[in-house]
Amino acid sequence: MKGSQKVVCVTAYDASTARIAEEAGVDLILVGDSLGNVVLGYESTLPVTLEEMLHHTRAVARTTTRALVIGDMPFGSYQASLEDAMRAAAAFLKAGAHGVKLEGAYPELVREMVRAGIPVMGHVGMTPQSVHAFGGFRVQGKGAAGDQVADAARGLADAGSFSLVLELVPAALAARITSEVACPTIGIGAGAGCDGQIQVFHDLLGLSPVTLKHAKTYVEGQRLLADGLRAYADEVREGEFPGEEHSF
Ligand code: KIV
Repeated sequence: MKGSQKVVCVTAYDASTARIAEEAGVDLILVGDSLGNVVLGYESTLPVTLEEMLHHTRAVARTTTRALVIGDMPFGSYQASLEDAMRAAAAFLKAGAHGVKLEGAYPELVREMVRAGIPVMGHVGMTPQSVHAFGGFRVQGKGAAGDQVADAARGLADAGSFSLVLELVPAALAARITSEVACPTIGIGAGAGCDGQIQVFHDLLGLSPVTLKHAKTYVEGQRLLADGLRAYADEVREGEFPGEEHSF
């Protein structure tokens, strides 16, 4: 799709969110480790375990028929050794993912995984698993630091990544990387010059408690859903629900 069609990507974490993503016609569903803060109530992605990721990947994969499903390798599942990484990636594929994503500059690891037949999506810029190393959520690659991000992106692309997430990097840097690598770049907070975009499901649909500059709310989901539940609560309390049509 590079150069001809924008790639539309979104996260999903279970059967219901995957079903909605498929109905909307997205190209790629990422079972992101944002699962941790978005769904499981953790403060960051760091506590997310491989088992948790696999459990949610299975739910998404069972529901998806058309979109490419990518499993996000959680913190600690690939940094220690090639063996760990291979085993974890294989577990994602057995869980129904078509490929995996991993954060950071690990070109040698990506090369080995690709050699083993595992499609790998790279991820550079503000990689949330390194939030403490970055000292918080900050735009990465401003000014001269841009070369470091671009080098990491090129290294991952040359190692065989099938695509690259660019997170929270200046739009001009993302556009430069996009023109320098052969694989599609997928931006989040990286401007319009990327080959595609990815967003967190709950941020797009108004289900997140925070508003982020790089996200746009397309539906006030929290309000709509709470209104629906309030109507249900009122009807139960007033004895209107269930009606005869809901009874046997
Ligand atoms: O975990 C995640 O949701 C992500 C993206 C949004 C890129 O890594």
